[in-house]
Amino acid sequence: MSTDTAPTTTSEQTRVPVIGVLVGSTRPTRIGRDVADQVAEMARLRSEATVEVVDLAEVGPPLLDEPRMPAKGDYVREHTKAWKQVIDGLDAVIVVSAQYNGGYPAPLKNAIDTLYAEWNDKPILLVTYGYHGGVRAAEQLRVVFGVVRADVLDPTVAITVTDADRDEEGHLTNACDVVERHRAELEVGFAAIHAALGC
Ligand SMILES: Cc1cc2nc3c(=O)[nH]c(=O)nc-3n(C[C@H](O)[C@H](O)[C@H](O)COP(=O)(O)O)c2cc1C
Repeated sequence: MSTDTAPTTTSEQTRVPVIGVLVGSTRPTRIGRDVADQVAEMARLRSEATVEVVDLAEVGPPLLDEPRMPAKGDYVREHTKAWKQVIDGLDAVIVVSAQYNGGYPAPLKNAIDTLYAEWNDKPILLVTYGYHGGVRAAEQLRVVFGVVRADVLDPTVAITVTDADRDEEGHLTNACDVVERHRAELEVGFAAIHAALGC
């Protein structure tokens, strides 16, 4: 997990909220991390909160192997407890997700399903990307986060990524530009997070 250097308390010892930017894809050649880094950078400029990138490729849980339903909350696996700690440490989450075949990546589904109560009432801003903004992934994420009783905010931000944005290996040639094109929607989303956090 990477983080900026903002303190977590002010001089009055008021706790500064922590916003996580969750990277939902884990492919070795993914663009998800670049998109998330740029979203985090923009959020830091807009926010009094601490903004952390939470990369499933680095800290995500392995495939769900808890003996009991996560909704029971009686986790026994150390990696589940570690993932719980990551999500418990976030006051709001910006979920940055690709669209795969009309849905969202399997590691992200696994990361959601591994916990339950930790998502309850958590403000979630959905930021998806794809040829048409990944809107179908966003639709499905909204349903699933609703089932775990997260507080899915409006709007959803849909980032359009075309082949013209990529080099021959498929990497973004300028991730900053791609995200910048959606600054207006992202700003509305960041405002929704701050309203939800009351800051
Ligand atoms: C398995 C797979 C399925 C895909 N399905 C879609 C899709 O349904 N819609 C879309 O716009 N792009 C789709 N794409 C293209 C992705 O938007 C593009 O590859 C993007 O870079 C994926 O995010 P990632 O690089 O972070 O993994 C798909 C890519 C992969 C690897």
